[in-house]
Amino acid sequence: MQLKAGAATFLFLFIGIVSAEIYEPFQEDSASAALEDVSNNGIPSASEVSEGPEEVDHGINLQQIPVSKPLGEVSAVAIDSNGNLIAFHRGDRIWDKDSFTDDFTMSSSLNAIPNSTIYIIEPSTGKVLAEYGENEYYMPHGLTIDSKGNIWVTDVGRHQVLRLCPKTFKPTLILGEKLVPGDDVSHFCQPTDVAVSADGQFVFIADGYCNARIMKFDSNGTFIEQFGNPPAQMPAKNGEFFVPHSIALIEDLNLLCVADRENQRIQCFTAGLSKGHRQTSPFGMFVTKAENIGRVYAIREKRHYLVGITGAGESSQQQQQEEIEPQVFIIDMDTGKAETYAKGLEGHSLAVDTSGNVFIAQMHPNQILHMQL
Ligand SMILES: *[C@@H]1O[C@H](CO)[C@@H](O)[C@H](O)[C@H]1NC(C)=O
Ligand SMILES: *[C@@H]1O[C@H](CO)[C@@H](O)[C@H](O)[C@H]1NC(C)=O
Repeated sequence: MQLKAGAATFLFLFIGIVSAEIYEPFQEDSASAALEDVSNNGIPSASEVSEGPEEVDHGINLQQIPVSKPLGEVSAVAIDSNGNLIAFHRGDRIWDKDSFTDDFTMSSSLNAIPNSTIYIIEPSTGKVLAEYGENEYYMPHGLTIDSKGNIWVTDVGRHQVLRLCPKTFKPTLILGEKLVPGDDVSHFCQPTDVAVSADGQFVFIADGYCNARIMKFDSNGTFIEQFGNPPAQMPAKNGEFFVPHSIALIEDLNLLCVADRENQRIQCFTAGLSKGHRQTSPFGMFVTKAENIGRVYAIREKRHYLVGITGAGESSQQQQQEEIEPQVFIIDMDTGKAETYAKGLEGHSLAVDTSGNVFIAQMHPNQILHMQL
């Protein structure tokens, strides 16, 4: 896809997302239609977005993957190079108010989950082809596959990030101290997600529920730099995070986008990659944001489309009524144009492939859904 030159393309990423039409970004025709629409500056405001419920049926074909083994809370999904689905789930463990002590340490009554927590799933049949990760993980969270096929997982109970061998699923690199939360450069506090540059040179980690920073490491796991703070006051400023829950690297734009969940926005920063667009920029310079989109749980990028999913969170019913309805949304990163793709659909994680297949990991019910963009 051709890049548009200039900074103007990125400045006004303002989401008001709502669209009654079928939006098919992965088909060339509608992608170009979306580009043309950008000249229209009628960006809907948040209040327009949160208007009452609307029919979800935009012709979206949503299927539940008939996974052949029991699934616990599915915290993450990814697609491997064979086109199989990898799911990271919590077995019989449930994250509730007793899971952690007040200082974010895992409750001492909880051991590693005995079940296999990683399934390799054939996506069309749901057959579990292989399973890993028994007696290893405490509270599975993030899952990312890098360009070499390494599997990166985050465990908010272990407070660690692990790189797993794609063949054995055994750790080849472990970052953080097991079960010990912290905020220095060798500890995490409930780290949520990982992104890795295509050349493997840089590893980005979102940390997390109880820290508010984005960290950058080299390929050997040596800390390089970090940025981010909790909000000093509301509304939060750029570069402040309230649960950075998911990150996506947009490699050739040299952008790292952060799902800043409780601030209900996405913020994008310079990634500080050594190649490509903006290569002279340092790491962590604010570039653009999309606000008022609801609690963003997950974002992933393919072909310059940032696909994301929001969720209602744990607020009271009263608050939920005032909130933006959960949705799958798509931002065309070349234009800043954002569209609601499916309303009323929430999830904890998602994976998207180059053909526009989207897999959504959900909890309660614990399941994986498939849809085609
Ligand atoms: C976890 O393992 C137990 C014991 O084998 C089994 O009964 C249960 O169905 C498993 N649960 C999940 C979600 O994998
Ligand atoms: C990583 O470690 C290997 C082996 O020790 C070394 O050859 C390589 O230069 C290191 N890479 C970085 C970026 O430090």
